[in-house]
Amino acid sequence: MNLESGAGLLHRLTSYVPDRDWDQRPDDPRLRHDLVQNDPATQPPQLKTYPNGLPAVALPRDFADPGVPATAVLAGATCPAQPLDAAQLGRVLFLGAGIVRTSERRGRPYLFRASGSAGARFPLEIYASTRGVAGIPDGVHWYDAAGHALIQLAPAASGAVTTLIVTGVPWRTGWRYAERGWRHLYWDAGTLLSQLHAAVASAGSAPRLRSLFPDAAVRQLVGADGIHEYPLAMLSFGDGAPAIGATGTAARGNLPPVELPLCTDAQRAGEREELGEPWPDGPRLPEVPASPSLDEVVRRRGSQRLMDRSRTLPRNLLEWPMAAAMRGIDVPHWVAVHGVDGLVPGIYRWPDLSKPLRSADLRDELLRICLDQYLAADAAYVAISAAPLSALDDRSYRDAQLAAGLVEGRLHLAAYALGASATGMTFLDSEVPALLGEPDNLAALLFTCVGVPEYASRPSGGPGAPVKIGSIVPRLG
Ligand SMILES: Cc1cc2nc3c(=O)[nH]c(=O)nc-3n(C[C@H](O)[C@H](O)[C@H](O)COP(=O)(O)O)c2cc1C
Repeated sequence: MNLESGAGLLHRLTSYVPDRDWDQRPDDPRLRHDLVQNDPATQPPQLKTYPNGLPAVALPRDFADPGVPATAVLAGATCPAQPLDAAQLGRVLFLGAGIVRTSERRGRPYLFRASGSAGARFPLEIYASTRGVAGIPDGVHWYDAAGHALIQLAPAASGAVTTLIVTGVPWRTGWRYAERGWRHLYWDAGTLLSQLHAAVASAGSAPRLRSLFPDAAVRQLVGADGIHEYPLAMLSFGDGAPAIGATGTAARGNLPPVELPLCTDAQRAGEREELGEPWPDGPRLPEVPASPSLDEVVRRRGSQRLMDRSRTLPRNLLEWPMAAAMRGIDVPHWVAVHGVDGLVPGIYRWPDLSKPLRSADLRDELLRICLDQYLAADAAYVAISAAPLSALDDRSYRDAQLAAGLVEGRLHLAAYALGASATGMTFLDSEVPALLGEPDNLAALLFTCVGVPEYASRPSGGPGAPVKIGSIVPRLG
């Protein structure tokens, strides 16, 4: 990977090192130095808006839970087919991006969505290009999470099957994380897609995830300008040609006009013109432990803020969630084990748990590498995704970040389904190769902490009924 341009340059310039605070950046003119991170005066709105007058369809707020155990969905079991109608499409969108909780930050209401997001920035949008969904006109629609509604932006696209397009708004996460936020778009898209994918599968449809698509055409389809918003991935309901061929001009929404040029360049460098194959499903897992339904698990999930380091997890709460999370994924993963019954603490290269690569109590090391965040030390284990930069290019770098996010999201669901808890976690890039005993050109992608919860998250509300939450502050070193 070329570290002087595109995604490689962004990776290099946004890597965290120990002698610089996370919000201090290298003195390089390609980074924007005129923006103050976390400045309340420039905080972007959490939601996109559109001019009034576009056709809207309210999605039903009462939808049936198909009752499929979360573990069955994650294991790849075939689920009974449900009709694809407005309620079902609304259910899928809600289980990925619905507004489930609210809190207050600096005197303003703050919205939390159904899937996690680094720093709760929620920088993603979802569009549904519909084909034959009962109760919804064929067309290109934006998911209005606040209203649990679809706003039609453009006429029906060419193509056969209903397809969700996930886009990222770089400034929404860049406001806090500057150019590193571009990586977060893909992490967050992975966690969101883990839930959308599971929701589609639980309705008996075959979810088809694609990360290779004609970027310019898909930008045109959803009205994204490629600077303030760009498409990241798409998910189709079943086999068949995704409905992504624009047949008209899409209405454009309102976003703050703040550009991070390094992010624009990284995104552009990976743009391609062809439509790729869907990601592989991976083999089904033979064992399906009992769990609540997927809908129930999504409503109960939250990122655990406090984990109990005095308690361990049984080995099957590492083996099963990791196996489920890694279905069809070829990005390398390691596991740092702190407290798992029957496993010597240390670093393991998934899936080999027979013997650690290094046996050690790694709690202090993880605390340091994860910027003094105790969750990484208090967890029972920490899954770590990383890939050699030499194996990546401007496009596959995106895929690797997306895969890491997908694993994070699935691990999260599996952990909550089985009574454990989880949170995504960031890290000092420069320290990860030595932790794993790998060469320096290994790019760390994402950490996921899984452990024993110190408290239970309050289950979320349904559409239009988010639950109010207070804030629980994680321990910092
Ligand atoms: C990719 C990713 C990275 C995250 N990194 C951290 C982290 O470094 N530290 C932390 O305390 N939480 C982290 N989180 C958790 C988020 O803060 C959390 O998802 C967000 O506040 C929304 O809350 P919820 O997940 O409970 O809905 C991460 C989440 C994701 C999805």
